[in-house]
Amino acid sequence: MIVCHCQGINDRELRRRVREGADSPSELARRCGAGVGCGGCRPLIDQILDEECREPIPLRLELAAAP
Ligand code: FES
Repeated sequence: MIVCHCQGINDRELRRRVREGADSPSELARRCGAGVGCGGCRPLIDQILDEECREPIPLRLELAAAP
């Protein structure tokens, strides 16, 4: 899905950039130009940052003690 129409940048590229270390809208803008045009994509950029930077919920397994 195209997120930044001004720069033609899709969500997969933005997620990849976040996984490579971009941790803010300004850092994403510096790395790929997303969000530096009209600004209409900034809410989606914020959402992607939130999703990619969110701490994973720890999976808790309760194993029954073997007799
Ligand atoms: S759509 Fe991203 S800056 Fe315009």
